[in-house]
Amino acid sequence: MDNKTLLEKLNSLSIEEKIGQLIQLTGDFFEGDMDTVVTGPLKKLGLNTDYNIYNTGSILNITNPEKIIRLQTDYLEKSVHKIPLLFMADIIYGYRTIFPIPIAQACSWNYEGIENAASIAAQECYEEGIHVTFSPMVDMVRDPRWGRVMESPGEDTLLAQKYAQSVVLGIQGSNLEDGAVPANKIAACVKHFAAYGAPVAGREYNAVDLSEHALREYYLPGYQAAIEAGAKLVMTAFNTLNGIPATGNEWLNRDVLRQEMKFDGVLISDYAAIEELIMHGYAEDETSAARLALLAGVDVDMKTAVYANQLKNVISGNDYMLELLNEAVYRVLQLKNDLGLFEDPFRGLQEIVKRSTSSILSDEHKQAALSLVEESVVLLKNENNVLPLSKETKVALMGPYAEENSTLGMWAIKGEQTDTINLKTGLLQLVGSDNLSVCRGSYLLPPDARETFDKYADKLAVETGSEEVLLQEAIRHANEAEVIVLALGESIYQSGEGGSRTNPTLPEPQLRLLHELSLLGKRIVLIVYSGRPLILTDVAGKVDAIVQAWYPGTMGGEALANILYGEVNPSGKLAMTFPRSVGQIPVYYNELNTGRPNLKENGSYRFASRYIDEVNEPLYPFGYGLSYTSFEYTLLTVSQKEMKTNESVDIRISVSNTGTYAGKETIQLYIRDKFASIARPVKELKDFKKVFLQSGETTIVEFSVDEDMLKFYGREMEYKSEPGEFEVYIGSSSQQILLSFSFTLLPEDKHE
Ligand code: GLC
Repeated sequence: MDNKTLLEKLNSLSIEEKIGQLIQLTGDFFEGDMDTVVTGPLKKLGLNTDYNIYNTGSILNITNPEKIIRLQTDYLEKSVHKIPLLFMADIIYGYRTIFPIPIAQACSWNYEGIENAASIAAQECYEEGIHVTFSPMVDMVRDPRWGRVMESPGEDTLLAQKYAQSVVLGIQGSNLEDGAVPANKIAACVKHFAAYGAPVAGREYNAVDLSEHALREYYLPGYQAAIEAGAKLVMTAFNTLNGIPATGNEWLNRDVLRQEMKFDGVLISDYAAIEELIMHGYAEDETSAARLALLAGVDVDMKTAVYANQLKNVISGNDYMLELLNEAVYRVLQLKNDLGLFEDPFRGLQEIVKRSTSSILSDEHKQAALSLVEESVVLLKNENNVLPLSKETKVALMGPYAEENSTLGMWAIKGEQTDTINLKTGLLQLVGSDNLSVCRGSYLLPPDARETFDKYADKLAVETGSEEVLLQEAIRHANEAEVIVLALGESIYQSGEGGSRTNPTLPEPQLRLLHELSLLGKRIVLIVYSGRPLILTDVAGKVDAIVQAWYPGTMGGEALANILYGEVNPSGKLAMTFPRSVGQIPVYYNELNTGRPNLKENGSYRFASRYIDEVNEPLYPFGYGLSYTSFEYTLLTVSQKEMKTNESVDIRISVSNTGTYAGKETIQLYIRDKFASIARPVKELKDFKKVFLQSGETTIVEFSVDEDMLKFYGREMEYKSEPGEFEVYIGSSSQQILLSFSFTLLPEDKHE
């Protein structure tokens, strides 16, 4: 439909029909006869009884194609305006083919792989009738106590930007013709705007207090990258930002998002976030909440009655509010138009459901998931060359995650555990059972788990047998084996939304098992399943190897087996720091130097920025990850040691695989601005290259440092570089710096 016709459509709508387009409900509002709906969900949500559900604009989390066809058909028959429904869902890292959780994908540093994963998720969504997915989540995070680390791209701004761009392009495609979302693609919704990943104390939904500098320097670029990649929607965040709830924050959503970032798509609230303006103490009542949200540019009210019940009186007699309403409705109509819904409300679904084949869980999709898991797993420790294992080695596999299929993470709403290849299955597929024994060893969680799991309590693993029996069986298996492969982890319900933890460690029963096994003198390979960096300091000294598996998704067990037995050489690099202790949190690589840095040469000098009961360094730093082989870097050339703003410093290094295994290495380039009008971090990731090298092979890797990499937000929030000295660090992690040199950015007046 062309814009002129779209505008005519808008102008043809009544106030009630316009407001209806801004309402998002769940599918239960369209089940059963009208009496059932009115006395059931409609009453429960508090919608006025005269609300016409056939004015509703979109539906949340209906994902069954036949149901979508039925709902859309029924809706179009009964609605007066005949504007099709939008179907939106939380497909964050896979539909039925479940990929590693986003924090794991971020450890792959493989953005082609991440884009392909998003493309596959979009394909499977398209074939099931979903129009919009609430992904990518790009909330940068530095605090592993927060449960939604699992869904985030980690602690670094550049990785958040890369992740955001790759996922949006994978979901929507690139170079959209006149903004139209092509077949096999759907619309992406970047979230949660903004800085939801920085809650005070890592406590879910807690306040976010950030300087404008920190907000712009570290947290906003990820959302900006998604918008520049063409994201059709943005979702507001639950949190306050410096005292003002994001969902009612006019500066954030109109000045920054729409004016500065030039976002002209649909801004949807997070679940019930408009109504929560009242609980925040920011809106006096529903009428005020409706007015504040509309003034703040929120187009769609997800699952509350506020817009439906209040917008009509907020708008009456107020031309400006009517103008805001029309703008909001027009954006929703544009989104439906970009998806081609006016031409085909089903986007080909009626033909698709008749097909005998589907791409869902196809071999190609599963292979893509397998490859991404293999690149997302991080080898944190490997002493005594316990890894890779030999197929002749007698292995005792044990731990609650040995046979656990619930390794999809909390946001795999369509993932089926029955599709999952768990670790035992993966190992049996690869090496058979001759040299493999399997037992549980311990409970996953204490019987009287202190955590409260609310509605997830009945999804927790059901433990049978006594802990003592499990332990004795594990010790028997261990004594008969050469190597113990110990699969431990936090429950997926200790992670995800609402999953903040004050002490993010392995659960007590598992720590007891690990301790008892460590007394047997056997080599132990620990595999950690988690949605966040756990505190592993106490366990690291008791095992010979640590493999960080995250929640690896459908193909997890096969990928881990390939890594354990050396079919694949691990190459993951941490996208988030692993603290030594909770007391260090937040601990991250791009910190400021302070006026009294804790210099090694000063030993335990009292008056330095340090703790008296812990070292400053994390257990495992950002960018860290081991390989079965080794790599050597040599600095070859640096084009110049003085750079004008319109030039670049071009760097050539050679990288050699000096070990016996072929492998992938991610070479990381960091910059340090030695002196500026505000204190700058001790290092910042500015580029990286991932290479594959056969044993003995050498390759040339080139980097170019340009002025854009040197820019930052100054005192007046101007985004610019400043002349002066810069350090360049090139390394295999943020701590393992192997090459370094300095150069000077010349002031403009030196540009003779
Ligand atoms: C949730 C989440 C958001 C999700 C939405 C719809 O509370 O915060 O990420 O997309 O509600 O399920």
